[in-house]
Amino acid sequence: MILVTGGAGFIGANFVLDWLGQTDEALLNLDKLTYAGNIDTLRSLDSDPRHLFVQGDIGDAALVAKLLAEHKPRAVVNFAAESHVDRSIHGPEDFIQTNIVGTFHLLEAVRAYWAGLEGEARQNFRMLHVSTDEVYGSLGKDDPAFTETHRYEPNSPYSASKAASDHLVRAYHHTYGLPVLTTNCSNNYGPYHFPEKLIPLMIVNALAGKPLPVYGDGQQIRDWLYVKDHCSAIRRVLEAGTLGDVYNVGGWNEKPNIEIVHAICALLDELRPRTDGASYSTQITYVTDRPGHDRRYAIDASKLQRELGWKPAETFETGIRKTVQWYLENNAWVDNVTSGTYRKWIEKQYT
Ligand code: NAD
Ligand code: DAU
Repeated sequence: MILVTGGAGFIGANFVLDWLGQTDEALLNLDKLTYAGNIDTLRSLDSDPRHLFVQGDIGDAALVAKLLAEHKPRAVVNFAAESHVDRSIHGPEDFIQTNIVGTFHLLEAVRAYWAGLEGEARQNFRMLHVSTDEVYGSLGKDDPAFTETHRYEPNSPYSASKAASDHLVRAYHHTYGLPVLTTNCSNNYGPYHFPEKLIPLMIVNALAGKPLPVYGDGQQIRDWLYVKDHCSAIRRVLEAGTLGDVYNVGGWNEKPNIEIVHAICALLDELRPRTDGASYSTQITYVTDRPGHDRRYAIDASKLQRELGWKPAETFETGIRKTVQWYLENNAWVDNVTSGTYRKWIEKQYT
């Protein structure tokens, strides 16, 4: 079996569902169930014996050691993190705790477990650490896209904490020989995305008749990757990646934020027109910019294609249509995650 951490979050849960849709290999899912973790996403696995869920912290070394000893996974895939840049600006401490200290404890537990393995089990063991393109900092308009050798220049408490975790992972390979792989990915989107991030927030706000808050001038550029493509990239790196190597994962879809918001509005105009006949784009509102807002990210994912034959299956046009349709068909999931503490966050961030 494999151990997945953070498997109740957006990408982790998509990965869990995708994994169990492709293979019968069991999966142990360790997730703390913070505000971002949602066990509802995994309801379809309730009676699936291949999925074992444990609520717990990657920073709880004793728990992780016990789980490793009991279940003897052949691989660990680490998604667990605090992941929202705006929240890291309001309160960085959880980011330091989970992304740095938590990753450190996880690495220590995995190192001890791996040291006790023998023969093929030891040789085949892998730990894959999921990271972000934000560790590379911000690009100018005409700069070439980030490659795996781009220098680290993180600008937010979130990206700095992810950068620190990447360095720890790298050091555990270099110093102890721990068989690690790291992936640095661009902005994901797709089903089960918590509506604090740009794409799901815009869909949910548009349908609720609320303003669509675009930070600054809306010309910040991100590369967008459909989450299922990210899942297939991780499976491929886990299967065939070179130990100690880093792989950039991207969708080859660089777009300014305002274009993303207009694309969502156009799809909603087509699929769920407003009753007054106006376009959802009339709800767009420019708001105060994010402090230290990175201007542009762009990922060069050619190493992954060249060495491991991976490329994304979705274009932005196909992926965003699937995403908008998913939100239109999954009201109950949205209602469930947008109650209670979610409302407090929206109030704090946007008023
Ligand atoms: P998310 O915030 O949706 O989910 C994070 C999950 O981790 C949640 O289920 C949460 O409960 C869990 N978690 C948090 N702290 C934990 C802890 N201490 N112990 C155990 N579980 C804990 O995040 P996501 O968007 O799914 O991102 C997953 C990973 O991918 C993160 O490492 C993130 O940095 C990285 N990443 C995300 C994106 C993106 O666009 N979302 C892009 C590149 C990289
Ligand atoms: O690049 C990968 C990163 O992508 C991941 O490492 C992070 O975990 C993930 O959250 C994401 O970070 P971003 O900051 O790019 O994502 P977010 O959806 O928060 O914002 C995307 C862009 O949209 C960013 O330029 C800020 C802008 N934005 C966001 C929100 C929530 C707005 O203009 N208005 C908004 O209300």
